[in-house]
Amino acid sequence: MAPKTEKKLIGVEAACKARCDPTFLPKAHIFKEFSLKDRVAVVTGAYGGLGLEMSLVLCELGAKVYGFDLPAEESSDFSACAEFAKRLDNGSKLTYVQGDVTNQTLISQKIKEIAAQEGRLDVCIAAAGVLGAADGHPCEEYPEAEWKHVLNVNTNGVFFTAQACASAMKEHGNAGSIILIASMSGSLTNRGHAWTAYNTSKSAVIQMARSMACELGADAVRVNSISPGHIYTKMTAALLDVKPEQAAKWADANPLGRIGHVHEVRGVVAWLSSDASTFCTGSDILVSGGHHAW
Ligand SMILES: NC(=O)c1ccc[n+]([C@@H]2O[C@H](COP(=O)([O-])OP(=O)(O)OC[C@H]3O[C@@H](n4cnc5c(N)ncnc54)[C@H](O)[C@@H]3O)[C@@H](O)[C@H]2O)c1
Repeated sequence: MAPKTEKKLIGVEAACKARCDPTFLPKAHIFKEFSLKDRVAVVTGAYGGLGLEMSLVLCELGAKVYGFDLPAEESSDFSACAEFAKRLDNGSKLTYVQGDVTNQTLISQKIKEIAAQEGRLDVCIAAAGVLGAADGHPCEEYPEAEWKHVLNVNTNGVFFTAQACASAMKEHGNAGSIILIASMSGSLTNRGHAWTAYNTSKSAVIQMARSMACELGADAVRVNSISPGHIYTKMTAALLDVKPEQAAKWADANPLGRIGHVHEVRGVVAWLSSDASTFCTGSDILVSGGHHAW
């Protein structure tokens, strides 16, 4: 069966056309494939850390981004990014929205309103997450309340965000890309850390992306997960700032010999959000400095 996507004259076909047709001028197409001009995105966990970095890269590519998080007011880093986006003068905009991803009714309502107001929704990044106690708990003693909280935010919250976005993408009929932020901890166990709840929640996210991708492919809605390795953010600072020796242990656990910077997820987010990845769905993309390879 022929692919459903629009056929564009790009790559080798463009080169062949340019050779036969002197009026067809050679032009690089790859940067255009990454453009998010006029696209609308929802990102959760956008107050800071990876979610804010991911929001900003979408703005740099031209998108209007709605960044969700718990606090009533945006962070000063968020407002710096909103101001930066405005000054890019590329049509992008970064807007803060207070919202708890564990509240299915509220998240679904807010996402529906954004899509209705913009007339579309193209990109969803579900990055809101919690680790639980940085020191963890032996699995046989893991406290019920914390277990439920970690799974509620990391698994239920990601699902509520993704399902609301999928519904809006289908309603407005403009296809879309849903990116669930999992973790390499969804596929391996961090040596020396008793994080069963976190690891379990992230495994669920990887499987959630595969399952949703299979259901939504017919509507041209793609669903993938990104599994970062160790990156310094507020989440990992809870451990690294108290036990600085941990940073060297993590660095030693991957072939690149260091932990990651938040900006090192920009490329993969740009690729998965945009038309540069139109044939990628149901995949988990590991960005771990090679931690998983050892
Ligand atoms: N930093 C890492 O090394 C690393 C590695 C793998 C995966 N991740 C994942 O990346 C994502 C972002 O984490 P980060 O490292 O930037 O940490 P972070 O703590 O800076 O960001 C997480 C954000 O999620 C928000 N959040 C928590 N509960 C929420 C809720 N109920 N509703 C809305 N927002 C909520 C927090 O307020 C926070 O701003 C998380 O899903 C995390 O599990 C991080």
